Amino acid sequence: MSKTPQIVRTITALREVTSRWRADGEASALVPTMGALHAGHLSLVDEVHKHAKRSVASIFVNPRQFAEHEDLGTYPRDEDGDVAMLGERGTDLVFIPPVEEMYPPDFSTAVEVGDVTEGLCSASRPHFFGGVATVVAKLLIQAQCDYAIFGEKDFQQLLVIRRMARDLDIPTKILGAPIIREDDGLAMSSRNQYLDDQQRQMAPHLYATLCTVADAIRVAGEVEKALGDGTSVLATAGFDVDYLELRDAVTLEPITTAPQTPARLFAGAYLGKTRLIDNMAV
Ligand code: PAJ
Repeated sequence: MSKTPQIVRTITALREVTSRWRADGEASALVPTMGALHAGHLSLVDEVHKHAKRSVASIFVNPRQFAEHEDLGTYPRDEDGDVAMLGERGTDLVFIPPVEEMYPPDFSTAVEVGDVTEGLCSASRPHFFGGVATVVAKLLIQAQCDYAIFGEKDFQQLLVIRRMARDLDIPTKILGAPIIREDDGLAMSSRNQYLDDQQRQMAPHLYATLCTVADAIRVAGEVEKALGDGTSVLATAGFDVDYLELRDAVTLEPITTAPQTPARLFAGAYLGKTRLIDNMAV
């Protein structure tokens, strides 16, 4: 159902629309993004419409989740293309706040989540989840939707956001949606644009290795051997491996022996300067 979405850039204008929906008894859902949209993002919009009549997507490249040395300045941006794609998927409203709307000069609050933030992406990006939790708390409170939806592509992020919303008594229900992949298995990501041809050819090895390691764990149950072998395979293929770990799928506690509860395999690795992450259920 194609629409021309309404674009709002202020919190006041956003609230005017979402509170009207609420007054009319229409359920709504928020899809937070940093733009440069691809089919993974758009699948979240489709998922929203299973739960709620009204949808709002936000596009905000959040400076607080980038470290000084990271790619904030070069992060891909295409507002017109993003809005057109969101319209094709039937998005009602797009919230595109300028940085000053989200972070006025005297902004002084930070949301820090413990426990599920430990390890995995935090190890090499210690600033990251604080920035994510702060901006997502703001977006949830700003939009006041019934639902907000996040991709399992960023599985640790999804758990951090769930914990943050629960701990802060934010009533928006947090939903997760499956990872959307390219035909060759590479998890879709806005950062895949950074890969050169050779790296792009190599990139699907990350997913292939996760599949192999997950199978080995299921069959032989030798977790540490499977993780060690997987790390060697990735390093030999040219990845700079940040982590390859098995964790409990709910608590994110590390798992080192044959899992008795639902487990999840997580990988983060660099190809050149580009950081790729992926995960799968075991
Ligand atoms: P961004 O990377 O733009 O992703 C926005 C949402 O799309 C996240 O929930 C992410 O998990 C989901 N997503 C990305 N690639 C996906 C894929 N291949 N399959 C399924 N879902 C996918 O994640 C962020 O932005 C930011 O950290 C944000 C939550 C917006 C806070 O700034």
